[in-house]
Amino acid sequence: MAISRRDFVHSALLGAASLSVPGSAKADTAPARGSGKAKLPVIISAANGFKYLDEAYTLLSGGGDTLDAALKVVQGPEDDPNDESVGLGGHPNEEGVVELDACCMHGPTRTAGSVGAVRNIKNASLLANTVRLHTGHVMLVGEGAEKFAVAQGFPRENLLTDKSRKEWLLWKETHSDWWGASLSSPDWRTRLRVHAHTDEWQERMDRMKTIAVAIGIPREEQMDAIRSVIFPPTGTIHCSALNAKGEMSGCTTTSGLAWKIPGRVGDSPIISAGCYTDQDVGSAGATGSGEENIKVAGAHTIIENMRRGMSPLDAGMDTLQRIVHNYNGDKERLQYVDMVYYILKKDGAYAAVSLWEGYGDDTSPHRIAIHDGTKRLETAVSMFRGVSQAWPPLFKS
Ligand code: GLY
Repeated sequence: MAISRRDFVHSALLGAASLSVPGSAKADTAPARGSGKAKLPVIISAANGFKYLDEAYTLLSGGGDTLDAALKVVQGPEDDPNDESVGLGGHPNEEGVVELDACCMHGPTRTAGSVGAVRNIKNASLLANTVRLHTGHVMLVGEGAEKFAVAQGFPRENLLTDKSRKEWLLWKETHSDWWGASLSSPDWRTRLRVHAHTDEWQERMDRMKTIAVAIGIPREEQMDAIRSVIFPPTGTIHCSALNAKGEMSGCTTTSGLAWKIPGRVGDSPIISAGCYTDQDVGSAGATGSGEENIKVAGAHTIIENMRRGMSPLDAGMDTLQRIVHNYNGDKERLQYVDMVYYILKKDGAYAAVSLWEGYGDDTSPHRIAIHDGTKRLETAVSMFRGVSQAWPPLFKS
């Protein structure tokens, strides 16, 4: 069956989602809270950490270290080959190689570790922690990080699953690259030049479908694969933990942006952007558009805002506002920015804030996972109504 531009737009971006597109009336009815005061101990993470919170919470309430608890949560998706946003099975770079980024901060000792663009090592978060514990450095990248990992006993593994390899092949055979105008460029509209006409669109979809079949992508996975190729996803997990003594830690890990230029490093391994913990104040982390978050040093900005007395919610909203300011409030461009912050203050106050309610081709709103004796998901408090759109902007109605 042919996939029309109209069908794809509707199924991928609108039809399956309960959320609205930018500018339209809000349709989401999920129970929203996304900010409040937790009991101690407490552990928070991005929604993909939800099923790993129990074990971490048990560790934390049994007197375990806060960073050990946070690492336990993020290790879950890193080990899961079906989570295409981190660790094993993460989307590869444009050469078909998985490159991982991660960082961690240990509040009680005020220490940090980080790795960027590291290959063949599944648990980048644990490697970041090993950099923290066993070097005089804070950040290792690329080949050096990999060699260090092997020396420390980490197994070298092929992180490309058959599924992610086939999706990469589909991208390689059908798509353009990252070279050229970015969202920040004055020439960003040149990215709109493709697919403005239905015929061109139809031709492209038919070709992708044919190639997906030839590559051996199972029928039921073809639409997801095509979506990932057209709209390269980022996916990440952040986790912060606070124990009854008031000790806190945080970590963030990711495979970064799908099909990225080799060596591209996002916000996740950048201490101050993807994660920041200050034992006197709180811990924060981010998922979403790494490039945008780096420019506002998101996690650090949040912590400094709270140090000056802001609540987690206000601290996060102020930081999102800085991203908005970088585009002079231009929603035509901001609709392509997806950003979520997860924030925990030393007294147990927490918040999740997002620029938009959800992300283009996902059907659920942005959420925070929390465990403070009661495990739950709460919807992030969003600055704008509607969902962000995936970059690049191929669809022009
Ligand atoms: N936030 C993940 C990345 O942009 O790499």
